[in-house]
Amino acid sequence: MHAYRAAILRFADDHSAIYDEDGLLVVGPDASGRPVVRTVGPYHDLAPNFPGVAVEHLPGRILAPGFVDLHIHYPQTDVIGSPADGLLPWLENYTFPHESRFADAAYARGVAAFFLDELARNGVTTALTFATSHPQSVDAFFTEAQARGLRMITGKVLQDRHSPDGVRDDTAQSLIDTEALIQRWHGKDRLGYAITPRFAPSCSDAQMRGAGALAAKYPDVWVQSHVAENRDEVQWVRELYPQARSYLSVYDNFGLLRQRAVYAHCLHFDDADRALMRSTGAAAAISPTSNLFLGSGFFDYEGADRIGYRYGLASDVGGGTSFSPFHTMLAAYVVGREGQTKPGLSLRPQQLWWQHTAGAAAALGLDGVIGNLQKGCEADFLVLNPQATPLLARKTALANSLDELLFSMIVLGDDRLVERTLISQ
Ligand code: GUN
Ligand code: ZN
Repeated sequence: MHAYRAAILRFADDHSAIYDEDGLLVVGPDASGRPVVRTVGPYHDLAPNFPGVAVEHLPGRILAPGFVDLHIHYPQTDVIGSPADGLLPWLENYTFPHESRFADAAYARGVAAFFLDELARNGVTTALTFATSHPQSVDAFFTEAQARGLRMITGKVLQDRHSPDGVRDDTAQSLIDTEALIQRWHGKDRLGYAITPRFAPSCSDAQMRGAGALAAKYPDVWVQSHVAENRDEVQWVRELYPQARSYLSVYDNFGLLRQRAVYAHCLHFDDADRALMRSTGAAAAISPTSNLFLGSGFFDYEGADRIGYRYGLASDVGGGTSFSPFHTMLAAYVVGREGQTKPGLSLRPQQLWWQHTAGAAAALGLDGVIGNLQKGCEADFLVLNPQATPLLARKTALANSLDELLFSMIVLGDDRLVERTLISQ
């Protein structure tokens, strides 16, 4: 057993933050030997229950759950900062040519290793990430993630049309490859597979139908895709599927909306789309730095909360501009006041932090497993140092409330705030 004494941040079932200024976190093996949170709470209440256990004292530090990135592309690590006049030219000019390099397994392995190191430096302990259309890009990622003992989810991208040579796959082979990868990796240690149609314009009806059949056959596998990100993209889907009620309903018609289905962006939605998200149990991955960088639009928090469907925060690197959850939370705060059905909403820092930890975990169907420091959660957590920079030290020392403290870190924080990332292994 390991015990840590420091300030501790965690979340209650109603999404509010619980903060122990002087807390104790005890980590020990569960029935299967994996370290989980055994006890958490005020130090002086709990310490007498653990007389023989050595306590690592971390004065001035904050223990917090590892962040969960609900949508990212590991092969786009080097695509960050590629400017374009919107999504479709960005895909054509930068992203597809770059992703074609992942046919080379050794290259994919090197990028996967760098990517996982970068996530750790930024305090991200679980990600739902796209690979590329090459099955070897999935093997490379899972091999690296498994060696680090991480809880990670990825899948081979499906894209058998409107895609250039080098990334376009073959319909029948893509479905065979997907099922083989599910059987090879899903549920191995802490790894999970996601069926990954890139987006409706890049997948033939036969490929979408096959993806939906696999989603029905493997209900605890994840599904991930993109929807309603960009106005030109939405118009293109309207032309491809003139009978469909909306872009989102195309996925529904192929059986691709369900629990454990995570759709990136969800910007250009109406209330019927929101109700479809709610009734199917699908979740949105809100990617504000990407939406700002590519000029895609603003996620409508007011609409999402009024209808009531699940969502969490995501970087969407390389459309997104940062691996740092602090940058993503700050961008979400800005976006939360733009383009809302009803104006005047201001997201609280506790809500923002929840959306990138326990909320993102819930969107994955992994509440109580990751994204929190409640009893029984896997012990993926961070040691934050609020004195990491002169300005952070000055500003956090002035905080008069938990909201002020969290806001200071959201606005001023980056990888320097993350002193250590501890992984349950
Ligand atoms: N839509 C289809 N592919 C992509 C992608 O790689 N990034 C983003 N942001 N949107 C997409
Ligand atoms: Zn994306």
